[in-house]
Amino acid sequence: MAKLEIIVAPDPRLKLKARPVGTVTPDIRQLMDDMLETMYAAPGIGLAAPQIGRPLRLIVVDAAKKDEGRKPYRMADPEILWASEEVIPYEEGCLSLPEQFAEVVRPRAVRVRYRDEDNSVKELEAEGLLAVCVQHEIDHLTGTLFVDHISALRRNMILRKLQKVKKAKALDAADA
Ligand code: NI
Repeated sequence: MAKLEIIVAPDPRLKLKARPVGTVTPDIRQLMDDMLETMYAAPGIGLAAPQIGRPLRLIVVDAAKKDEGRKPYRMADPEILWASEEVIPYEEGCLSLPEQFAEVVRPRAVRVRYRDEDNSVKELEAEGLLAVCVQHEIDHLTGTLFVDHISALRRNMILRKLQKVKKAKALDAADA
């Protein structure tokens, strides 16, 4: 297993449309495990392949509470089959937008079809935090970030802040 580097916004690689995985090969299974390791280390509850520079329709998610133990989902080519009409607001963050949070409104429950690590087609009915997380990660596959769901004013504020942090880091690196 290997920890991967997470791309931080603003970055054009986060805005790409990912391509289908197709068959889950041993390489893809390895990538799923590496993504999970990277996600747990961050720590986070979801990670999409475009965030580590691989434009593939691949996500990993684990929204289990601490006392429940780990409950990872490895999802290739996830597809939302159904979403509830009922929506819920949730304060979202993202490993590609460190220390930034905003309230996003999404369907409370979804049904998702995907291919798992053994290349079997699975369906998951998720609600609450797991549903929010799955929707957030699937958004990444079309280059959509959680800030794309909030006002342009707030989005630009967050992206400008991140850009500033990036510039400061680049200057520090140049000084060293
Ligand atoms: Ni994210």
